[in-house]
Amino acid sequence: MRTQVGIIGAGPAGLLLSRLLQLRGIDTVVLENRSRAYVEARIRAGILEQHTVTTLIDAGVGDRLQREGMPHDGVHLQYPGTRHHLDFAQLCGRNVWLYGQSEVVKDLIAAQLDDGPPLLFDVSDVSPEDVDGDAPRIRFTDAEGRAQVLECDVVVGADGFHGVSRPVVTAGTSGRTWERTYPYAWLGILADVAPSSDELVYAWHPDGFALLSMRSPTVSRLYLQVDPTEKIEDWSDDRIWDGLSTRFALDGWELQTGPVTEKSILPMRSFVSAPMRRGRLFLAGDAAHIVPPTGAKGLNLAVADVTLLATALTRLVQEQRTDLVDSYSDRALARVWRCTHFSWWMTSMLHRSGDDFDAELQLSQLRRVCSSEAAARELAENYTGLPVDA
Ligand code: FAD
Ligand code: DHB
Repeated sequence: MRTQVGIIGAGPAGLLLSRLLQLRGIDTVVLENRSRAYVEARIRAGILEQHTVTTLIDAGVGDRLQREGMPHDGVHLQYPGTRHHLDFAQLCGRNVWLYGQSEVVKDLIAAQLDDGPPLLFDVSDVSPEDVDGDAPRIRFTDAEGRAQVLECDVVVGADGFHGVSRPVVTAGTSGRTWERTYPYAWLGILADVAPSSDELVYAWHPDGFALLSMRSPTVSRLYLQVDPTEKIEDWSDDRIWDGLSTRFALDGWELQTGPVTEKSILPMRSFVSAPMRRGRLFLAGDAAHIVPPTGAKGLNLAVADVTLLATALTRLVQEQRTDLVDSYSDRALARVWRCTHFSWWMTSMLHRSGDDFDAELQLSQLRRVCSSEAAARELAENYTGLPVDA
């Protein structure tokens, strides 16, 4: 088998890159080690920055997003006694959209299987080779158990945090990594109940952080800060709803509860690996960096990476010009670090840990964001997404 760009991983990064390159006349093959059903059922992020929405629409995969996605002009920030609305449209002229990552992935897979380049599920033993030369390849075993070789001009590792690509980059470059683990986790649920708020509520509470989000007018998505050692079996639905009701409590407002259809505990981590390239192997998305979810940045960063990479690879493959691939890692990492800082800042402001001194600092910061237009605008600009200069 031969292609121009071999892509490892059918998450948002790999699928969108394949789509953007197809639109520019470049051949790709996407290799995914899970099944289609597994990839489409994975519940993850929900907030799309304006840039992400525009990119998906321009790539011809935004029809359902425009029909079913929910534009949000702001969020609520809460601490005991106060729920403050931040109006993003007024603060920075941009907004965000609520549309589940699983829906983005379904739309991209449907488009690719309809008229797009090959997308192979259930492959195994994926291994990028000879990435320092001009003719790299990917060895893998296909779904029928046959050994295959995919010859490429370029390989892209869009295979997430646990993928095989980052170790190949790290082994062949004098790069480095940065990591921070947080002393808390999120317990996330999906529930068949209408969202109790029209826009998201990020709540600070002495018991810990809570987030109210949604997936549709009839499905709520909620998160609750828990200790990372907690076991999901110890959290009955009643215990979860009790915790959420306490943390969101506000006079004159009530949290509506309903049947829980999914629940899981997510660890929280910041991680950055540099450079995002070794020779003809490029990293994109979670393969190179992870942010804690509080700033809603993970999926949007993956989209920003492949927006840059699509332009850079087009220039390389069609014009043999290396300027944009040579600067890809630095340009991508500048945005990665901005989002890493914002995600760390939101996380540190909203989660309980440490002592009472830390709590007073957090409350002071929250009051500042809720009373100063300059402080609110800083949050709004970062949350809705800084420009991607591709
Ligand atoms: P991924 O979505 O991880 O896709 C990588 C793909 O590569 C996967 O399909 C994987 O199966 C495949 N793969 C891995 N190894 C191989 C291999 N060896 N060969 C072939 N294929 C391989 N972000 C938020 O903003 N808000 C959230 O609430 C949120 N929740 C999250 C919950 C969880 C459990 C996780 C893990 C992440 C969450 N994120 C969240 C982050 C966000 O979902 C990611 O940033 C986003 O998925 C990144 O997309 P990606 O395409 O880079 O990676
Ligand atoms: C969702 C997840 C986030 O991490 C976030 O900051 C906002 C919303 C969500 O899953 O809906």
